[in-house]
Amino acid sequence: MKAIVQDKYGSLDVLKLREIDKPVVKDDEVLVRVHAASVSPDVWHVVRGLPYVLRIMGAGLRKPRNSVPGTDMAGQVESVGQNVTRFQPGDEVFGESVRGHQWHNGGAYAEYVSVPERALALKPANLTFEQAAAVPTSGFIALQSLRDQGQVRAGQKVLINGAGGGVGTFVVQLAKAYGADVTAVDSTRKLEMLRSIGADQVIDYTQEDFTQRGERYDLIVDIPGNRSLSDYRRALTAKGTYVLIGHDLFGASAGRWIGSMRRVFKQLVVSPFVSQRINPRVSMKTKDRLAVLKELIEAGKITPVIDRTYPLSEVPEAIRHLERGHAQGKVVITV
Ligand SMILES: NC(=O)c1ccc[n+]([C@@H]2O[C@H](COP(=O)([O-])OP(=O)(O)OC[C@H]3O[C@@H](n4cnc5c(N)ncnc54)[C@H](OP(=O)(O)O)[C@@H]3O)[C@@H](O)[C@H]2O)c1
Repeated sequence: MKAIVQDKYGSLDVLKLREIDKPVVKDDEVLVRVHAASVSPDVWHVVRGLPYVLRIMGAGLRKPRNSVPGTDMAGQVESVGQNVTRFQPGDEVFGESVRGHQWHNGGAYAEYVSVPERALALKPANLTFEQAAAVPTSGFIALQSLRDQGQVRAGQKVLINGAGGGVGTFVVQLAKAYGADVTAVDSTRKLEMLRSIGADQVIDYTQEDFTQRGERYDLIVDIPGNRSLSDYRRALTAKGTYVLIGHDLFGASAGRWIGSMRRVFKQLVVSPFVSQRINPRVSMKTKDRLAVLKELIEAGKITPVIDRTYPLSEVPEAIRHLERGHAQGKVVITV
């Protein structure tokens, strides 16, 4: 089969299109003929091998353990392992091809990928393969931030910083689906799109600092994490919640060893001493994530925002496009 292969960590030039063997499914896995996959900053991290901590978190110490990048995909079931009960050949599915976190290669940038049964769901009937492939990783972190950590409620004022990217466009639509009043912050070009997906107010971060406006929010979901904690606290109500997703801005805003995790550690130290909920640690509901997103998509409450699609051979260019910060919503690979 054709696949994008990465034999070592490094620049995007390490990615090559090659013929390799099809994966062999384990008993609890499903072999999927991939029709579309998507790109996220997490893929960039594993191509680069940065921050270094990801190498000891399972990505592979000296070189990637799995040489084929990509985690999010949609396609058709080709065959199933002997313990698989929920799927059969021909089913149209979507999901995430990694077990656990996204900081290792999942093999999705290929014609076939082997995926644990529990990481798959039937594709929402109203989405194309390209749209469905855009959902998993970004949709999961959006759901986790708003529902589990943020405990969002109808009528609350929610601000999303960095709303126009892959994760933010899901957070905006989810917050609206939960009945919140949504303020979306991003750069000038992305504001019209943010209004079109439901943002009640938009703020251009190149013109205005939302932490200096005197407005207070019940919940801030922060993607870039580019302000100090005291700035964020000033923009929160007395009992408000701050959730940091974190973005290394492709190495520009974080250290090479632990990336933006440093910010999270700092906030953990401060959080017991303030009235607001800072990055609340809660148990994440992971089992129902795909099902919840699928239901909201089929009810028309969430529609993935696709910036652009690239063919499999142009994966390096697709990641470069994301890295330049030009993408509105998700960048998708067609296979
Ligand atoms: N922990 C997890 O399980 C998990 C899961 C998924 C994703 N993530 C992480 O989530 C992060 C976000 O991913 P993403 O796909 O949304 O990235 P993305 O598509 O690059 O979006 C980031 C957005 O932030 C905006 N931005 C940049 N600087 C800003 C600033 N100073 N103020 C406000 N907005 C700013 C960008 O706009 P401009 O470029 O126009 O400025 C862009 O729209 C990544 O770091 C990823 O690793 C974590």
